[in-house]
Amino acid sequence: MTAIEFGTPEHKALFCEDFLKSHDPFKPEEIRWPALDAAALERLKALPVWTEAVNTEYETGLKVKAFGEAEKDPQMSEAIALQGYEEERHFRLLELMTSHYGIPVTRRGEPSLPEPQWGFLGVGYAECFDSFFAFGIFALARRSGFFPAALTDVFEPILQEEARHILFFANWAEYRQQRTPLWARPAHTFNNGLAAAMQVVGRLKLAFAAGGGEDGDGVDDNFMMDAKKAFGEVSARSFIELCLAENERRLAPYDARLARPRLAPSAARLILRLLPAEKQLTAA
Ligand SMILES: [Fe+2]
Ligand SMILES: [Fe+2]
Repeated sequence: MTAIEFGTPEHKALFCEDFLKSHDPFKPEEIRWPALDAAALERLKALPVWTEAVNTEYETGLKVKAFGEAEKDPQMSEAIALQGYEEERHFRLLELMTSHYGIPVTRRGEPSLPEPQWGFLGVGYAECFDSFFAFGIFALARRSGFFPAALTDVFEPILQEEARHILFFANWAEYRQQRTPLWARPAHTFNNGLAAAMQVVGRLKLAFAAGGGEDGDGVDDNFMMDAKKAFGEVSARSFIELCLAENERRLAPYDARLARPRLAPSAARLILRLLPAEKQLTAA
């Protein structure tokens, strides 16, 4: 397989076609939600993520669709519109799941949308960080049997879809970078860096907000006890190594000539180098 030059029409055709042909046409309305025993249902309800997840997927769908409509290149527009559809499908799936299992969700009002390209940059960098860690957390949940396999199976295509999204975003960003004239690259790099930094700051704020609960951790203690029992002690090192391995595995099926997302894996490798060998990340 010969390498492809990034920024060329062949590169654009490859990352758009790879994205379009790997689309999975499942319908959330056809999912048969598995019966859960009382303990599994409690664990699912106790996960402190559903309100944020439902709202974020809804808003992401709107932002990506808006950029799909604004994009002038027909091939890229088609691929971005398909991603917008998939994000909206994540929202529908989560809405169906939360209503099926009686999980309360507080909806935010209609968001005011940013300028379409800025919105897509924000979504892309956010997904690059979130997906990297979600791949590891999902693998832990599956391996430990914290949730029944029938339930994790339902979410498997969503995780794989996020892998496709970050792969598309990495190539879209690389394509734009290569096509930016040299004189404009510093401003372009600054713009991208700012969009990435804003997502990191947003994630840190969420992490601090999650730490601000009544008992200081914001998360139900029984849930954390259950999680600790199921996951066992997981060192920070082994968790980051798992995220790296899962990231590689999920991106492996796609054309090897495409650019791979670099930001989160590079940050993770840097953390691995800095981390003392005995540092432990406990579930409580
Ligand atoms: Fe999504
Ligand atoms: Fe996504």
